[in-house]
Amino acid sequence: MYTSRISGLGHFVPDNIVTNDDLSKLMDTNDEWIQERTGIKERRWIEQGSPETSASMGAKAAKIAIEKAGIDKNEIDFIIFATLSPDMYFPGCGVQIQDMLGLPTVGALDVRNQCSGFVYALSVADQFIKTGMYQNILVIGSEFHSGGLDVTTRGRGVSVIFGDGAGAAILTRSDDPERGILSTHLHSEGKHARELTVESPSIAHWVPEILNNPDDLSYYPYMNGTFVFKNAVVRFSEVIMEGLQTNGLSPTDIDMLIPHQANLRISQFVQKKFSLRDDQVYNNIQKYGNTTAASIIIALTEAHEKGKVTNGDLIVLAAFGSGFTWGSVIIRW
Ligand code: UT7
Repeated sequence: MYTSRISGLGHFVPDNIVTNDDLSKLMDTNDEWIQERTGIKERRWIEQGSPETSASMGAKAAKIAIEKAGIDKNEIDFIIFATLSPDMYFPGCGVQIQDMLGLPTVGALDVRNQCSGFVYALSVADQFIKTGMYQNILVIGSEFHSGGLDVTTRGRGVSVIFGDGAGAAILTRSDDPERGILSTHLHSEGKHARELTVESPSIAHWVPEILNNPDDLSYYPYMNGTFVFKNAVVRFSEVIMEGLQTNGLSPTDIDMLIPHQANLRISQFVQKKFSLRDDQVYNNIQKYGNTTAASIIIALTEAHEKGKVTNGDLIVLAAFGSGFTWGSVIIRW
C-alpha cells in the first residue's frame, strides 16, 4: 500500500469584497448581529456580470496547486471536483476543469457533499492513490454561492453567511508510511436532508411548477440554523476523536486543526472542547464567510502559506454540513 501526501496547494477568491455594512443596504441586518452570531466581517462575492464561475475559480486555484506541486499538468491522473454550486445542472465541473486546463482525457468525478465535499473528495482521492491506481490526483473545492442567494430580508438567516471562492490540492503517491494522509472518516445521516437544502429545481420539482407558483421559493437555500448548529458541534467533536483514536493519538497530539468554516462559534466550541490554543486552530471565516466545499482547502492553503503547517505536524481537517454529512482527515505533514 502507498500513502498519499499533499504536494501542492492553491486558492483563488474573487476581488469583490462585500462587508456586513454592504449587506445591511440590501436587507435588514447589521454588522453587530453578523459578527456576534457568525464571526464574519466580510466575504467575497463574484461581481454581477463577471464571467467567473465555480469551474473557472477552481481552474485558477488548480493552476497554482499544480505549479506548487512541481508537476506537469500531463502527470495528473484524475480530477475530483467538490461543489454544491456547479456551473451546469449536468455535466459536473470536473469535466470543465479537464477542458479548461487542457489536461489529458483523464477521469473526472464530481462530489456533491456540500460542506463536507472537500473531506469526501480527499478521502476518495486517497483510496485511489493508496491502492496504486493513480499517482497524482487534482482535488478541487469551489463555490459560487452569491448568484443563488436570497439577498432580501427574507433570506438574511442564510445569505449573510455564504461566500465565493475556490481551493485546490494535488495529492501525490508516496512510499513513506509515516507521512501523508493517515486516515479519513466519513459519515452521513440523510433523515436531516431537508434541514439544510436547496430543494429545486430537481427532477421531482421541475421549472414549470416553480414558475407557476410565485410563492415557491424552493430554489433558494433553506437552513434550520439552530438545529444545524447543535448537530455540528456534536459531529465535529465525534469525528475528530474517531480520527485521532484510529491512529492511537489524542487531542494533545494536534498541531493544527482546520475546521470547515461554518461559523466561528462552532470552531471556538470545538477548540475549547479539545483544549486547543488559538494558534492550533486556523480560522478565516472572518474574511471569506462560509465557502462550503472550498472552505477547508482555502484555509489549509493559507495556513500553509503562513508557515502554520510544517513538516512533521499533525493536521486535522474536519467538516460538517448539509446531508447531513460529516468527516475528518488526519494528516502527518
Ligand atoms: O456550513 C454548513 C453548516 N452550517 C452551519 O453549521 C450553520 C449553523 N448555524 C448557524 O451558524 C446559526 O444558526 C446562524 C448564524 C445561521 C443563525 O444564528 P442563530 O444564533 O441560530 O440565530 P437564529 O436563527 O436563532 O435567529 C435569531 C434572531 C431571529 O430573530 P427573532 O426571531 O429572535 O426576532 C432572526 O430572525 O436573529 C434574526 N436574524 C437576523 N438578524 C439580523 C436571522 N438572521 C439575521 C441577520 N441579521 N442576518
